[in-house]
Amino acid sequence: DGYAAEKLFNSGFSYTYDDLIFLPHYIDFAADAVDLSSRLSRNIPLSTPFVASPMDTVSESAMASAMAALGGIAIIHPNTTPSRQAAFIRAAKSRRVPILSDPVFFSPSDVIDSEEDFAASPFILVTESGHSKGKFLGFVSKTNYLNQNDKGARVSDYMEPPPAALPWSSDLARIEEELENKKENVVALVKDDEVVDLVSKEEVDRVRGYPKLASGGSVGADGEWLVGAAIGTREQDKERLEHLVKAGVNAVVLDSSQGNSIYQLEMIKYVKKVYPELDVIGGNVVTMYQADNLIQAGVDGLRVGMGSGSICTTQEVCAVGRGQGTAVYKVSSIAYKSGVPVIADGGISNSGHIVKALSLGASTVMMGSFLAGSIEAPGAYVYQNGQRVKKYRGMGSLEAMTQGSDQRYLGDTAKLKIAQGVVGAVKDKGSVLKFVPYTMQAVRQGFQDIGANSLQSAHDLLRSRVLRLEVRTGAAQVEGGIHGLVSYEKKYY
Ligand code: XMP
Repeated sequence: DGYAAEKLFNSGFSYTYDDLIFLPHYIDFAADAVDLSSRLSRNIPLSTPFVASPMDTVSESAMASAMAALGGIAIIHPNTTPSRQAAFIRAAKSRRVPILSDPVFFSPSDVIDSEEDFAASPFILVTESGHSKGKFLGFVSKTNYLNQNDKGARVSDYMEPPPAALPWSSDLARIEEELENKKENVVALVKDDEVVDLVSKEEVDRVRGYPKLASGGSVGADGEWLVGAAIGTREQDKERLEHLVKAGVNAVVLDSSQGNSIYQLEMIKYVKKVYPELDVIGGNVVTMYQADNLIQAGVDGLRVGMGSGSICTTQEVCAVGRGQGTAVYKVSSIAYKSGVPVIADGGISNSGHIVKALSLGASTVMMGSFLAGSIEAPGAYVYQNGQRVKKYRGMGSLEAMTQGSDQRYLGDTAKLKIAQGVVGAVKDKGSVLKFVPYTMQAVRQGFQDIGANSLQSAHDLLRSRVLRLEVRTGAAQVEGGIHGLVSYEKKYY
């Protein structure tokens, strides 16, 4: 009944997730028994197979610490200076509670210009030097600053004295206990005698309210959370990488829409030679030929997808790409032979797409729009047609390229910039700490239906032709969605 993947994907069509449907198999275990642990790349194990895209409206410190707390990982975007990108990594790795913060340092004589100086944090940290290194003198709270309404005043006018301090790696319970004992509202986190962040009672209460987080999250050999980062393949990216390595980056992603290039092959060899301990992820690729070239060059992971992202226009502009279901299957079918994990990148808009990507051979899914619009994504919420939304933009959009990301689309040498992405907005989705655990549970149920109790088991069932699938006609796709109702509310949890 149905078709084996091998037969279906050799029929001359490019299939995307929505074209495909798995036939149910036999269940002999509970959904909770499904083990979703996986690997991002050869040496990076994850308990949750979810990766946040290296995009400037998705992955900075807050997303990185939340994804790590959930057992996944975020790849910090490179659309900023090397030192700022490194600072995002350092900040995310300098805590073990997924608080919403992007630590900002000022000196007492500095002037706070506006609310924006606080970035994502409710506080500004004050040190003698105005940098993270330097004696910790106190902090300014955003509420205090806004209440006084005295723009142009010096930091020293608002400053409150340093609160009690705890080691950076303290967990929620320890922080809560300290706040309780000292009857304070804020506690400082300290690493190597430097203050790295402040945590308020309000933040502790917020984080405590979410479904139980995976035990400890994604922690590396250094005892810190795992954080990845993306770079390009230019000469100056080698210098950028040095900054990122100093900040403790655990994996580096070579960010390109067509990864099978001489620039990337040379960069892979460079990274493996200079930083043999660092995992390097190549891509993007969608064919076995592209994948094989990068595998030969020594990649530790492959990122798959071309033009399938929600904000992508690459297939329209350049006439190149592949349906994401076919791309994931084809690349995985060669990558697994070398033990190289595959990241299915782009085109995920529901848990069913995740089940499909992971069952077709991917080890993780990389998501942009699915995670954008969360409180952990960079940027502020605005109202559009009565809806609370956050900006989400393609890294190949004109707006992002003007800020520096043109290299991903090899546009930096051309005088004429052609966009391969759009700028948009996505609905407020609340915290990833809430909707990712629910999404994982939905994915476990999908795995249970196909009779796979782990990713490895799904991959084995696919390759041994036990897992069967079919292509859905247009009418079958309509039938598979909500239809025939006058009105409805789409709510999953
Ligand atoms: P989703 O569907 O998760 O896709 O929003 C995120 C992925 O899309 C890729 N990306 C782009 N592709 N033009 C493109 O053709 C762009 O401007 C662009 N920006 C991001 C990227 O692989 C990301 O992970």
